[in-house]
Amino acid sequence: MKGILLAGGSGTRLNPMTIPVSKHLLPIGDKPMVYYPLSALMLAGITDILVISTEADLPHYRRLLGDGSQLGIQIDYAVQDEPNGIAEALIIGAEKIGDDPVALILGDNIFHGAAFQSILEENVRNVHGCVLFAYGVKDPERHGVAEFDEAGRLVSLEEKPARPRSNRAVTGLYLYDNDVVDIAKNVRPSARGELEITDVNRVYLERGRARVVDLGRGFAWLDTGTPQSLLQAGLYVRTLEERQGVRIACIEEVALRMGFIDSDACHRLGAAMANSAYGQYVMAVAQELAS
Ligand code: G1P
Repeated sequence: MKGILLAGGSGTRLNPMTIPVSKHLLPIGDKPMVYYPLSALMLAGITDILVISTEADLPHYRRLLGDGSQLGIQIDYAVQDEPNGIAEALIIGAEKIGDDPVALILGDNIFHGAAFQSILEENVRNVHGCVLFAYGVKDPERHGVAEFDEAGRLVSLEEKPARPRSNRAVTGLYLYDNDVVDIAKNVRPSARGELEITDVNRVYLERGRARVVDLGRGFAWLDTGTPQSLLQAGLYVRTLEERQGVRIACIEEVALRMGFIDSDACHRLGAAMANSAYGQYVMAVAQELAS
């Protein structure tokens, strides 16, 4: 399965912070936001990833993540020139996707929960149609919304409805079979001129090929869209990290634990940042897991 990480957009709700810096490079705790969705793809076992951003911001992602080889993965880059919508990422990424299924994740989506890795593993193995991940929120009107019937079957998907039919938000992690490229190419722009990912998902729903996994209450799906929610997400991460002495979304640790790199390579990555607590943590993890 291929991975696409969409880190485009102008993040205007976070101005002035996002005037010089891409939203997805802002810090959550002591690491850039993009580490969280990147870790999610890596935890799903995906090692071939396309990062999509604006022309102006791509050099920063390249500087941060390189070609991925230091993490034992491959990272390529592509430009989204205009904010034409999330579904356009699947068209931009068509060549990368090739004949494979694909996981698309939005660069500002932070998932955290004990069962996350097993949920991912379970669902990436056999993607027939699309798999969406729903999460109960108190402001569903700000998201894609999934509605279910009494039997728990998915009956509708709406993008930011004024009157949501449920409190179930569709999160920004989507698993698709290879049909998605054709589907995305045939979606028409919405009233706001964007290729909506919800319209892609609705095609799968109409074909009876959309499945929704509910992430449940013991799970965190954090918002980073406003200065307040950005700070709250950072506090959530720091609170858990300080209490438990582990880091969430430390990409070097994930690469090591997934077997993409060995402990020597991990240690070298930490040593290159030895002046920071983050780098020291990476070195300590490498030492602990050295065999
Ligand atoms: C996008 C999608 C929406 C989804 C959300 C998840 O909205 O259009 O369906 O619920 O991401 O983060 P955006 O936040 O880009 O407005």
